[in-house]
Amino acid sequence: MAIDSFGEFLTTLEKRGELKQISSTIATELEITEIADREMKKPDGGKALLFDSPSINGNPSPLPLAINTMGSHKRMAIALGRESVDEAAKDLESIMHAKPPASFTEAVKLLGSALELRHAKPKVVSNGPCKEIVEDPRDFSNSNAELPTLANLPIQKCWPEDGGRFITLPCVVTQDPDTGARNVGMYRMQVFDSQTTGMHWQLQKVAARHGKQYYDQGKRMPVSVFLGGDPVYPFCATAPLPDGLDEFLLAGYLRGKSVPLIKCETNDLQVPANADIVIEGYVDPTEELRDEGPFGDHTGFYTLPDKYPAFHITTITRRSDSVYPTTIVGQPPMEDFYMGSASVKIFMPIFRMNFPEIIDIALPAEGVFHNLVFVSIKKTYPMQAYKIMHGLWGMGQMMFSKYIVVVDDDVDVHNTSEVLFRMGANTDPQRDTIFTRGPSDVLDHATPEVAIGSKMGIDATKKLSGEGFKREWPPIIKMNKTIKNKVDEILGK
Ligand SMILES: Cc1cc2nc3c(=O)[nH]c(=O)nc-3n(C[C@H](O)[C@H](O)[C@H](O)COP(=O)(O)O)c2cc1C
Repeated sequence: MAIDSFGEFLTTLEKRGELKQISSTIATELEITEIADREMKKPDGGKALLFDSPSINGNPSPLPLAINTMGSHKRMAIALGRESVDEAAKDLESIMHAKPPASFTEAVKLLGSALELRHAKPKVVSNGPCKEIVEDPRDFSNSNAELPTLANLPIQKCWPEDGGRFITLPCVVTQDPDTGARNVGMYRMQVFDSQTTGMHWQLQKVAARHGKQYYDQGKRMPVSVFLGGDPVYPFCATAPLPDGLDEFLLAGYLRGKSVPLIKCETNDLQVPANADIVIEGYVDPTEELRDEGPFGDHTGFYTLPDKYPAFHITTITRRSDSVYPTTIVGQPPMEDFYMGSASVKIFMPIFRMNFPEIIDIALPAEGVFHNLVFVSIKKTYPMQAYKIMHGLWGMGQMMFSKYIVVVDDDVDVHNTSEVLFRMGANTDPQRDTIFTRGPSDVLDHATPEVAIGSKMGIDATKKLSGEGFKREWPPIIKMNKTIKNKVDEILGK
């Protein structure tokens, strides 16, 4: 199940007919974006693309580049080492619902789950392929020393108005200076120069909290970034895990094999030994923040420049056969839609543990993650839809949800047209909507202030008499099963 390198993942994609290889020279400045965007807009996310000869300012890049590798439900499942994302979700659910075994067969099943959990714990190793090439660690005492450089990586300039080149699939490792708890998050990095990038961890993200602690203590903050390796790593870096829960535990569980962790060359952080590229460095919290952006973002609009910390590179290490993984974000649907959908599926058991009435949740592509959330529930008591809205707004990154629409359990929330039909038909706008206020996505350009805004909940469920509904609720029009079966038979003939 475990994939040991990004190269192995690409080979699997190729064998499964999910990869197109492009051998012509294509510029990392905008051209790769245009090709990848056209691919991502194809039904079911098109294919993954491997560019053999990306060029950087007209010069050939020493590394190939791969994009859209997780940009379909099928490729996302392959990245998780499963036939479907539902399979991964079911595995997690079975552990959460594990009860003491009542029979021998149940005991054997439970033992299987326990053995899989064993893999969750990372394993520390002393060498690994990510160190096959080690660039000279930065020597601050010698101004003539060779410096590690980003100039050899095929880092894209994604969109015409972007403020520069951006690393878009980095897994950023930081540590809480007080507890030692590790975090792996995905935060884009704008290249400022060959040894310096921006670090776009937004206000409410875990690495930003770690940064604030280093700032309060006046201490330099070690940061290491890795790219590639098992594709489960970038998935886990984007997953909304609770603060304090190590992403490598989830990665180890999902891949069914401990994540091999290796100590970095120039700081004490650990990264997967099978990563393709590792960029080590630090953030100096006493240094002034720098302008980051503009950047063509998930929202489908450019995020305007804002202040973020600078990341200083101390060394770069990599595999000798490394491939540079990247993505683009922009007007939906894009690759990140499939990553987000997988997160929702995998975390569904956690949602259901808190709210057993939840049947399903969808974040439609048009809502670019947080703008639009559709939830179906088995409603059994008055005002239950409102309990769900408030509950979700209080759960981790669901706090960013702008519009939550709650529908009954017979609605397929992945069918936007069906949800809109129920919403239009089942609501009285004044009675069935609520507004509230809360933190908002930093990227949202429509809120009156950065990071705070309002939210709207729409109750599109059938209204109950206990909710003050005095009229009779009509049945929805549906053909009966007997006639359907009979017509199936007639048409089949
Ligand atoms: C392709 C991609 C790029 C992302 N870029 C950023 C980013 O630049 N800044 C950010 O704060 N979150 C970004 N995110 C979202 C975070 O990765 C996500 O919220 C994650 O859960 C954060 O981890 P944390 O909770 O450990 O901080 C991105 C997500 C994806 C899929």
